[in-house]
Amino acid sequence: MTNDRKTAGFPKPEFSAPDFPAPDLSVCIAGVRLKNPVIAASGTFGYGREYRGFLDVSALGGICTKGLTLRPRPGNRGTRLHETPSGLLNSIGLENPGIPAFLEKELPALRELGPVVIANLSGSTPEEYAEGARLLDASPIDMIELNISCPNVKAGGMAFGLDSEAAASVVGQVRRAAGSKPLVVKLSPNAPDLAAVARSCAAAGADALSLVNTFKAMAIDIHKRKPVFDMVSAGLSGPAIRPIALRMVWELGEILDLPLIGMGGIAVPGDALEFLLAGAVAVQVGSATFAHPPTMMETIRGIEDYMREKGFSTLGELSIRQKNKQKNRP
Ligand SMILES: Cc1cc2nc3c(=O)[nH]c(=O)nc-3n(C[C@H](O)[C@H](O)[C@H](O)COP(=O)(O)O)c2cc1C
Repeated sequence: MTNDRKTAGFPKPEFSAPDFPAPDLSVCIAGVRLKNPVIAASGTFGYGREYRGFLDVSALGGICTKGLTLRPRPGNRGTRLHETPSGLLNSIGLENPGIPAFLEKELPALRELGPVVIANLSGSTPEEYAEGARLLDASPIDMIELNISCPNVKAGGMAFGLDSEAAASVVGQVRRAAGSKPLVVKLSPNAPDLAAVARSCAAAGADALSLVNTFKAMAIDIHKRKPVFDMVSAGLSGPAIRPIALRMVWELGEILDLPLIGMGGIAVPGDALEFLLAGAVAVQVGSATFAHPPTMMETIRGIEDYMREKGFSTLGELSIRQKNKQKNRP
């Protein structure tokens, strides 16, 4: 993934104003407190332990697991990752050990790391989602992120995130199956009417929404004269999608009162700040971690420096959208 901000004309933002007292970076999402708003995005951080040698994993606000399904999945055949200018195409196909094996073999070590644990739940049918949710509900995870937006599977996945009725049905079933856990629903930017899907997720019991998952896209190998991916299309992430993801967060913030977790192409602190200023309560970082593992550490520090420089003491003061709303009130 090519993401050299210097050559692209975007110098890395530098904030330094050490004179203010330490700002409070903590955030509360659906009753769960994160020590800061930076979360490792699903599918890009394994189960946390894989990155222990690369960054201080305990300093993160949260870790989202790889997409989990009731039964183990081997994932897709053929090419799974393909770089593009400023982006990354993936077609992993939800490879995972299945929820029972995750709970037994991965969760104890993940819990020990310290950050809030968010289980990313996927499935092929509403019943499979609900059965997975029941297992997670009885486990010591902190939150469920319901993935109705994976573009890389043949059945289920994104299909539930494109249509408001299908989304409401699966969100409702998972809500009932996992009554004790906060429920974040992860939306697809490929939905023809994202606002309608978001509204129906809220009505069906979502406590928060996260967006965006990857954009459906493709690449062709001109020498082999065939699509790069066996499934033809794949999901695009990385800096290429950031301005579109930001616009979607902004627009949903205008119509919904639910907490929004923003993501898509965050690579430097200023990117995360854009989402927070747009009204997101937290952010997730995905593809950038592959290119530069310390990205999330630098993002946490950059947010803190920015808050000191501007004299903000809490994250809640960052959103310009809320201010606009207040300004517009009679
Ligand atoms: C290799 C890879 C695997 C992913 N796997 C999942 C997944 O299992 N579940 C999910 O909800 N999102 C998954 N995503 C999407 C990311 O969590 C994130 O929504 C998306 O990549 C946009 O953020 P980014 O531009 O910072 O990567 C995956 C992304 C990548 C690049």
